[in-house]
Amino acid sequence: MNTSFTDTFDRDFLLETMMGPNAMRITEEMASFLPISPGMRILDLGCGMGISSILLAQKYDVTVFAADLWVSPSDNAKRFASLGLDSKVIPFLVDATKDIPFAHEYFDMIISVDSYQYFGNNEHMLPKLLPFVKKGGFMAVAIPGFVQEYPEGQLPKEVQPYWTPEWYFYSCPWWRTLWEKEASIVLTDLREMDSCKQAWDDWLQSPNPYAQRDSAMMEAGAGQYFNIIQLIGRKI
Ligand SMILES: C[S@@+](CC[C@H](N)C(=O)[O-])C[C@H]1O[C@@H](n2cnc3c(N)ncnc32)[C@H](O)[C@@H]1O
Repeated sequence: MNTSFTDTFDRDFLLETMMGPNAMRITEEMASFLPISPGMRILDLGCGMGISSILLAQKYDVTVFAADLWVSPSDNAKRFASLGLDSKVIPFLVDATKDIPFAHEYFDMIISVDSYQYFGNNEHMLPKLLPFVKKGGFMAVAIPGFVQEYPEGQLPKEVQPYWTPEWYFYSCPWWRTLWEKEASIVLTDLREMDSCKQAWDDWLQSPNPYAQRDSAMMEAGAGQYFNIIQLIGRKI
């Protein structure tokens, strides 16, 4: 069995920088579905503390624009410099719901891991972002979700005590319906990711207080209703 990049990476660094299910592991799986080659320019939208960006720069030798809203670009710059990546991963403060500060057709790909659900769960975001991708380039998103859609008030009993509307969890068919409305992209992959359980297990070992909170939820059995959804589309 091949050892993954994620499994050889500094474990303590990863546990300190996770903000949810291990984004490096998720990115590594999603990247294996993408035609990434050295020198490409990739926007990592909602990068958090940048572990997805680090994976892309170190494993694929691409240039990453690491854009996030909640995490300061100054903190991310220090983190990237500490790994010798300051010329490969460029931190930005970006609110995806506001103006996007990049040139049109600038990126070979936009990727977004465990963040698109916060701003992309509407008909406006995909057409807003696609102009920044080169023709033939890719939009690749990995998001936590539910294995099926649960109507209002009918969540599984193991999930109910923990759920808040701010999770923005949807099912594969829900995302398919949303993305198929957009004419300038062809959906090339929509699947439940294999790394879901391992990414959650990694997260539960993080010292992040939210991980401690999530431990109780997973021990109660909520995880059987969760997946991680991979959505990849090619711009036409
Ligand atoms: C759960 S964290 C995940 C961070 C990182 N991708 C990871 O998986 O470790 C969600 C991220 O979404 C980002 N986010 C939420 N709303 C955003 C917006 N409107 N524009 C850009 N990023 C946003 C937050 O800044 C936050 O870092």
